[in-house]
Amino acid sequence: TNHITLNGPPVFEGLPFVGGILKFLQGPMQLMKGGYQKYGEVFTVPVLHKKITFLLGPHASPHFYKASDDDMSQTEVYEFNVPTFGKGVVFDVDHKTRGEQFRFFAEALKSARLKLYVPLFVQETQDFFGKWGDSGIVDFKDVLADLIILTASRTLLGREVRENMFSQVTALLHDLDEGMKPISVLFPYLPIPAHNRRDRARAELSELFAKVIRARRADPERNAREADLLASFCQARYSPAINGGRELTEGEITGMLIAVLFAGQHTSSITSSWTGLYMIKHPDVWKEAVEEQRQVIRTHGEKLTLEALGDMPVLQRIITEALRLFPPLILLLRQCKRSFLVSTSNGHKYTIPKGHVVATSPAFQHRLPHIFERPDSFEPDRFADARAEDKAMPFSFIGFGGGRHGCMGSNFAYLQIKTIWSVLLRNFEMELLDPFPQADYSSMVVGPTACRVQYTRRPLRHRQTYIGAHGISGTRERDY
Ligand code: HEM
Repeated sequence: TNHITLNGPPVFEGLPFVGGILKFLQGPMQLMKGGYQKYGEVFTVPVLHKKITFLLGPHASPHFYKASDDDMSQTEVYEFNVPTFGKGVVFDVDHKTRGEQFRFFAEALKSARLKLYVPLFVQETQDFFGKWGDSGIVDFKDVLADLIILTASRTLLGREVRENMFSQVTALLHDLDEGMKPISVLFPYLPIPAHNRRDRARAELSELFAKVIRARRADPERNAREADLLASFCQARYSPAINGGRELTEGEITGMLIAVLFAGQHTSSITSSWTGLYMIKHPDVWKEAVEEQRQVIRTHGEKLTLEALGDMPVLQRIITEALRLFPPLILLLRQCKRSFLVSTSNGHKYTIPKGHVVATSPAFQHRLPHIFERPDSFEPDRFADARAEDKAMPFSFIGFGGGRHGCMGSNFAYLQIKTIWSVLLRNFEMELLDPFPQADYSSMVVGPTACRVQYTRRPLRHRQTYIGAHGISGTRERDY
């Protein structure tokens, strides 16, 4: 046994009490940069009554990802989501119940289900871009947020919401979304107007979803035929040892749908935006991606199937590289419930005490030059076999987190983003009208600042009859 008592991490001194909070809320990137320069990979920042210890880089962070929930807990640091997700789900339940609920997420997102979602992604995406003109100016940040809310409603919330109550639900989700401000992390129940609107919207969503769920359960055969997460959740049952093996309540299903929507919506639309912005900025990469589409069409035919989308390594690496440069979730947090040891890349060892909040940062870590060569440069090939920079050490690429609580929706996200960019690459040329955007750190899920893009539909070579889901049909010009 090891009897050496190790020191705690260095404490970031000289942050004024209020300055510490503001710095933390507004610019964790600056804070981490300062701390990293001064102290290296591990340091503690006092924020109000809390101590936040940063573990920056894959050497210091494996325990963060691998530890059990009893040692590294999400409850305390993510329970600010409870007023949004609702009572009785995810961060408002004991570990056993949560484990079961995460099993339901996993089942709804496994490949057999993903296969069912692909045609829905394709349909929504083709309908959406089918309505674009021959040329126009768009901001992907806005346009792709609109598209993702359509595909997410269809695949997650279900047909009823998408087809019959889309605008109503979207408005409520908007209020729910706007009710999650950086300040909500520290004070989720502060009586500010944004929180009041959030609570009203949450209550209305409960009523609305309860009706939909009751109708589904009244017709289990129809429910079983539906390809959406709602269908999975309506059928799910706890294990016999937990909650008596009962099925999910209407409230639990509603909460889980909202939770999954929050996990997958902005993250995906932001990553789609950066993916496109980088391809447009790098014409050689754009060309390579278009060439891959031609190849995929030769191998798999015109139709975007699960197999076709799985056969796009070039686009896959482009998406991963966009996510490396600008991960939308910039901080991941846990509460340390049992002290543990960390080692840094240069051999320092520290004990992280019980009671600290522990943070890792995809955004900061992905720019470390000893992990990713020329870290600020867009080089999708760094993920190809020849370089495989993400594989040199576990937990190097953490855009989807990793380990015990790694993202369950990453395959879903890749399929959705690849569908979007397959359709766009096949049909349009694009040009940036503004300087390349920066990351907007003022929102919880960090995306690009405004940037206008000019699109032009490619000249006609073949004609494809286009039939939309909502009675729109016509002929679309395509290049292939
Ligand atoms: C967890 C990122 C899309 C569902 C996570 C985590 C990250 C992440 C970093 C880990 C959080 C932590 O350790 O504290 C992303 C990104 C996405 C994306 C960048 C898009 C590009 C999705 C989608 C879904 C989803 C589309 C569902 C349809 C989940 C779930 C978890 C999770 C259920 C919780 C896993 C757990 O705690 O065990 N995601 N995500 N995500 N994500 Fe995603």
